[in-house]
Amino acid sequence: MTSQTETYPVPTAYAANTLMDEARYFEFYNRSVEDNEGFWREQAQRIDWIEPFNQVKDVSFAKDDLHIRWFADGKLNVAANCLDRHLVEHGDTTAILWVGDEPGTSREISYLELHREVCRFANGLKSLGVQKGDVVTIYMPMIPEAAVAMLACARIGAVHSVVFAGFSPEALAGRMDDGKSRTLITANAGRRGGRSVPLKQNVDRAVALCAETTVENVVVVNYTGGVNDWNPAVDRDYAELIAAQSDDCPAEVMDAEDPLFILYTSGSTGKPKGVLHTSGGYITYASITHEYVFDYRRGERYWCAADIGWITGHSYIIYGPLANGATTVMYEGVPNYPDATRVSQIIDDHQINILYIAPTAIRALMAEGDKPVAGASLESLRLLGTVGEPINPEAWKWYHRTFGRGQCPIVDTWWQTETGGAMLTPLPGATALKPGSATRPFFGVQPALVDGEGNILEGAAEGNLVLLGSWPGQMRTVFGDHQRFIDTYFSTFDNMYFTGDGARRDDDGYYWITGRVDDVLNVSGHRMGTAELESALVAHQAVAEAAVVGFPHDIKGQGIYVYVTLNSGVKPTEQMRNALRNWLRREIGPIATPDIIQWAPGLPKTRSGKIMRRILRKVAADECDQLGDTSTLADPSVVDNLVANRAALS
Ligand code: PRX
Repeated sequence: MTSQTETYPVPTAYAANTLMDEARYFEFYNRSVEDNEGFWREQAQRIDWIEPFNQVKDVSFAKDDLHIRWFADGKLNVAANCLDRHLVEHGDTTAILWVGDEPGTSREISYLELHREVCRFANGLKSLGVQKGDVVTIYMPMIPEAAVAMLACARIGAVHSVVFAGFSPEALAGRMDDGKSRTLITANAGRRGGRSVPLKQNVDRAVALCAETTVENVVVVNYTGGVNDWNPAVDRDYAELIAAQSDDCPAEVMDAEDPLFILYTSGSTGKPKGVLHTSGGYITYASITHEYVFDYRRGERYWCAADIGWITGHSYIIYGPLANGATTVMYEGVPNYPDATRVSQIIDDHQINILYIAPTAIRALMAEGDKPVAGASLESLRLLGTVGEPINPEAWKWYHRTFGRGQCPIVDTWWQTETGGAMLTPLPGATALKPGSATRPFFGVQPALVDGEGNILEGAAEGNLVLLGSWPGQMRTVFGDHQRFIDTYFSTFDNMYFTGDGARRDDDGYYWITGRVDDVLNVSGHRMGTAELESALVAHQAVAEAAVVGFPHDIKGQGIYVYVTLNSGVKPTEQMRNALRNWLRREIGPIATPDIIQWAPGLPKTRSGKIMRRILRKVAADECDQLGDTSTLADPSVVDNLVANRAALS
């Protein structure tokens, strides 16, 4: 097990002034497990209920009786919890501190202003005929109107489905079709890293591609000026729409288990699935985790540098912080534009107290040495966080030394789109840190490690990471396909939620995530299914067969390694490589751009025709001397060819 010497105790100055010290953590945690209902009954009081709940939970993880309900007879409105209840005492507090892509551009929006805009847009959506339960797709750059759109949906009970603005028209259309979404909210364009992103153009293509739904309204924020190809039949100008609306929009009374949003994420098989989160449990969990994980105090400026297209943006830019009356930073750009000092400059310029960022960004900055913090004070920073992928100890220590000035704790939070909020995480005043470990479970979370047969492993061990009981932020179903929900998460091991991750637990009970144990890639913290990439590739006319695996990548964590068997007669040229690269970008989006494409006249298959990915992973990692047993292959000579072609690529 990893050495015990690399432990970073809670800094003394910190421990003296924290929401949660070590003794209290254990007290809270033990109570949360032993009296789970009592714990959550109490903790859910942080939410304003329009009608209080009596039932706390009603859960079964049995695959023939799967159901997950929290606070089910309570009624609330999530947007009112994020806005209205702060207005009397904290209306003038900055809710969103927006920082633009171009240095020097920023805007502060108070809770009062945000509330007003959300109400007007909510009325605007109603005027377009959007009703409670309708799925509204949001395809937006990181501008305040994106937050307004999400909260306006929540206010009227519409279910938002945010699609990352880096996804292609094809990917957008697929998600709109799946959600049968008839309303889309977008901007004419976005800005990122000094470049313009043609969102409206993508939307027009997506609308034309939709086969299962007819898009009736496309609301367009004219953000950068100028919209081409205006289609009056469906396009609606955001500014015009809200100009006509009243500031008053009563919040819809929602059942705790009414859907709040769908967010598509990739699995090991098939198309991306619509992870469905509901209202009462999700907001309770987003709020409590935001407060304790970030040790959040009112008045602090908190920056989660994610995109609203991912769950991190949902829970920790929008819902958690706003439910807690926080000042949340929304950054439009990328960490290294115009140069590597951008993050530290934003921190100094806006006196930011908490920074939460992905390991990929940390590694990209680390590649520049100490330049990213050169000349910066960073004294406002009190706490750092990471999320999305394992962080290597070297990057952890660099982050701690540079941004953290050796003083800020780092909360390495392990969680998933499915979990709604952080599950394994240090609490800054309570947990001694070990670089690379997500440490211990959050309150009410019961992790376990199991072997391949589902036997629970005790003590220091390594195995599949499962969760034994429910928590309020848990996803409730796969939108439109409940069976898939059961099959994906509850069928591998009986009566447990299977995370898809492997993990190790050390002698101190700390968890170390070792990565996915299924065919899901994590590229720069973005989750991608190999099956999804492969089906896109074989749809190309030149491709006979394709297999995709991940390989270790210094900055991205994992890179995308593609093996392609071309149709006979097609030449394996550099031009063809580029064509396939562009094809994946077009079909899925730039995040799916392969790092390496290797021509493979044959793929290693068992006699029953199953591709042996283990071998492909080894070849991709350039570990051809560790291929293991290849005797079960239908044609072992395929491997020689793969190895020879790999060598030619290095
Ligand atoms: O493999 C784990 C990895 O990211 C996966 C979840 O991806 P996604 O649903 O996109 O959500 C990302 C943001 C919460 C997990 O199954 N992962 C996430 N956080 C960590 C992590 N791996 C190691 N350490 C983490 N802190």
